[in-house]
Amino acid sequence: MAIRQIITAPDPRLRQVSKPVPEVNDDLRALMKDMLETMYDAPGIGLAAIQIGEPVRVIVMDLAGEGEEPAPRYFVNPEILDPSDDMNLHEEGCLSVPEFYDEVERPAKCRVKYLDFDGKEQLLEAEGLLATCIQHEMDHLEGVLFIDHLSRLKRERVLKKLKKEQRLAAE
Ligand code: NI
Repeated sequence: MAIRQIITAPDPRLRQVSKPVPEVNDDLRALMKDMLETMYDAPGIGLAAIQIGEPVRVIVMDLAGEGEEPAPRYFVNPEILDPSDDMNLHEEGCLSVPEFYDEVERPAKCRVKYLDFDGKEQLLEAEGLLATCIQHEMDHLEGVLFIDHLSRLKRERVLKKLKKEQRLAAE
């Protein structure tokens, strides 16, 4: 396993639409392990493959609280089904948009169809933090960031700040 570099906005690679995975094999499992290690190191609760520069439809997640047993989840080719009409407002952050948090409104519940670590098809009922997190990560697969759900003014302010920080870091 290896810790990989996390790409941050406004890097154009984050705007790519990720491609479906043809097969869950050992190479893909190695990528998922790298993603999980990178996410734990950051630390974060979810990571999409594109955030480490791999444009494939893979997400890892662990919503275990502090002091709880790790509970890694792997989602390959995930699809959201039956998003609820009732919405939920939840504060979000993103490893690709460091040190910025804001509330985003999303469907409160949904179902997720995906392949697991072993390539087996799974169907999951999601609500609460799990529903928020899976929808946030699904957005990454479409090249969408959580700041895209905010006002243009807020989004531009964040991106400007990140650009400035990256320029200073490069000097
Ligand atoms: Ni994110």
